[in-house]
Amino acid sequence: MNKDVKINWGNLGFNYIKTDYRYISVWKDGQWDEGRLTEDNMLNISEASTALHYGQQCFEGLKAYRRKDGKIQLFRVDRNAHRMNESTAKLLMPEVPVDKFIDACMQVVKANEHYVPPYGTGATLYLRPFIIGVGDNIGVKPAPEYIFSVFAVPVGPYFKDGLTPCNFMIADYDRAAPYGTGGQKVGGNYAASLHPHRIAVDRGFADCIYLDPSTHKKIEEVGAANFFGITKNNEFITPKSPSILPSITKYSLMDIARDYLKMPVYERDVYIDNIDEFKEAGACGTAAVITPIGGIEYKDKLHVFHSETEVGPVTKELYRILCGIQFGDIEGPEGWTYLV
Ligand code: PLP
Ligand code: COI
Repeated sequence: MNKDVKINWGNLGFNYIKTDYRYISVWKDGQWDEGRLTEDNMLNISEASTALHYGQQCFEGLKAYRRKDGKIQLFRVDRNAHRMNESTAKLLMPEVPVDKFIDACMQVVKANEHYVPPYGTGATLYLRPFIIGVGDNIGVKPAPEYIFSVFAVPVGPYFKDGLTPCNFMIADYDRAAPYGTGGQKVGGNYAASLHPHRIAVDRGFADCIYLDPSTHKKIEEVGAANFFGITKNNEFITPKSPSILPSITKYSLMDIARDYLKMPVYERDVYIDNIDEFKEAGACGTAAVITPIGGIEYKDKLHVFHSETEVGPVTKELYRILCGIQFGDIEGPEGWTYLV
């Protein structure tokens, strides 16, 4: 690490910090090259790249965690590799072999080991794998070449500090179309979310909640995180829809709720008009971890769940177990963690 870089680990937000090495591999003439680490954080690509004009790109997000014993582990990196290949399939981009994806992530963490925050700070090293269509092309068609890269950034909380409730408002806009790309991690979904996000933040909310784009009656996503609710009978509920990104954190919480907390777990429609079926609610994702939802504003009324300031007991338990597994304090199901 550059000796001049002094990081205040306990005070990190979710901001770009240039780390020492990133991985880069090029797809040309039908195959990926070997891939390599580089110190250069600039990409030199054709002005006519499909990623720039037609949104032919996708990305992933996962974290490296420092354990109490000083070792470093990744959480469910295989799931990110598979999900990236669902995005590449949708946008006619070449698949990245799962082993290559995992190896790239491992290389980047090892090469930037000093940027993995110390255990106990709550901070982590966020990995951002991505693929972009590059090369000379002007028609709307798949690119002739692709770049697969992984970079790393030390991060703290995405929303407010750690486990702190946040309020959200229902968006008047959609982030994706009913049979579009909402279920894939492609840049276009996030471009479409910038304007509604700005409105929410300007109005004092952490972010907005998207309803289903067909009927605008059912909850889908909480900004760049999935939604879950705990019913008054202690069931874990999360929405099901093809335009929701299949969150790896969400599927992990479903397993934790079922197997560790012995709760019934359902993926089903969640109607905004029936929101008072939940005594607690939260947003979950790699960046968001678990962010308790204090209240949701809908039709000029704020519906408060457990409390706007206190975290509900089930949310607290889910958070304790999830983070315990991610930081190596609690044994997780087989295959969830990868030692670097
Ligand atoms: N939903 C959206 C739109 C996201 O961008 C993310 C982030 O990856 C998630 C949900 C959470 O997914 P995961 O838990 O796999 O990070
Ligand atoms: C993540 O949670 O990994 C995300 O990608 C969310 C956001 C930073 C886009």
